[in-house]
Amino acid sequence: MINLAILISGRGSNMEAILRAVKKKKMPVRPVIVIANKSDAKGLQIAKKLGVKTAIVESVGLKGRSWEYDKKLSAVLEENNVTPKNGLICLAGFMRIMSPEFIKRYKGRIINIHPAILPSFPGLHSQRQAVDHGVKYSGCTVHFVDEGVDTGPIILQAIVKVKDDDTEESLSKRILKQEHRIYPKAVRLFAEGKIKVKGRKTIIS
Ligand code: GRF
Repeated sequence: MINLAILISGRGSNMEAILRAVKKKKMPVRPVIVIANKSDAKGLQIAKKLGVKTAIVESVGLKGRSWEYDKKLSAVLEENNVTPKNGLICLAGFMRIMSPEFIKRYKGRIINIHPAILPSFPGLHSQRQAVDHGVKYSGCTVHFVDEGVDTGPIILQAIVKVKDDDTEESLSKRILKQEHRIYPKAVRLFAEGKIKVKGRKTIIS
């Protein structure tokens, strides 16, 4: 059994997709806690409704990587028995970059969803970048988190066709649908021990 923590900053639709899938599909996953870095993150209410414990670790005024902040996160995770041995930490629209110390502590146990086909369009506003660049296809990527920004080994990707008249909003909407499909799938693969990391690659069995 994997103890799952989901970290959010806002809407929490990926969090919701994961929590609903865990409930419905009988994964070997115990959703232990949802942590937000903002007290007004909408997803907190959704988590509560779904019966999952929530916590707020405020990061107001803190920019960039901060081990000081991540230590507080770590403390909440450990208190809730999400450890480097039994835990999975899903970043779901969590708008902070983790410190190298945090990543080292939970090595291979932090995953993220990004709304583009990495390594294209890392960082912020990926859907806008895709529209502006004129790509014909974009999509989303679930990947392990390493010390870089959106650079860790890729677990799953889904492709979305970009239409000629797409805007950032319309493309984001279609990508989000795919995010909700592949993120829970990646959680299941992880929990079932089906993902092996070999250098930059993941091998899915
Ligand atoms: C998603 O588009 C995700 O790919 C990105 O941030 C957004 C979060 O949305 N990292 P939500 O909070 O899961 O609805």
